[in-house]
Amino acid sequence: MSRFHDAVNEQIGREFAASQQYVAIAVHYDGETLPQLAAHFYRQALEERNHAMMLVQYLLDAGAQVVVPGVAAPKIDFGDAVEPVALALEQEKQVTEQIVRLALAAREEGDLVGEQFLHWFLQEQREEVSSMSSLLAVVRRASDSNLLLADEYLARVTVGDQGVDAAAPPAAGGAL
Ligand SMILES: [Fe+2]
Ligand SMILES: [Fe+2]
Repeated sequence: MSRFHDAVNEQIGREFAASQQYVAIAVHYDGETLPQLAAHFYRQALEERNHAMMLVQYLLDAGAQVVVPGVAAPKIDFGDAVEPVALALEQEKQVTEQIVRLALAAREEGDLVGEQFLHWFLQEQREEVSSMSSLLAVVRRASDSNLLLADEYLARVTVGDQGVDAAAPPAAGGAL
């Protein structure tokens, strides 16, 4: 197996871990009766799961071995309502760096098909870092007065692409 394919397998684990973290954040907000924030993160959890399954489909198409990983437990305790979104933004920034390293690994091996496959993920990271930054600004502002304002914001404004993207690579078993 190529070093690039090894790295793709590692990224599958990170996308599943991101999905679990977003489930934990969604459950946290659901427990605080902030339903729109909860819904937003349930949706993000599905998106990350779909990212993992897109990487699985890529390896299947490339005839490479797929290693379905276990994941570390997510953080479930949060000090305030801002902390989960700050964590989510930090996570998205890290994933952006991981995807960049992955694309560079493909390039170094002369795997231009692999590099081209990752272009969608780079675009997706630009969108996710941007929308999570906006959400963090809104939640920070609302946390001084009334968090329901942040929840209402999500009911009125579409944040991010809601996972709907016709150009997205196919996910193994179909995207959810
Ligand atoms: Fe992702
Ligand atoms: Fe993401």
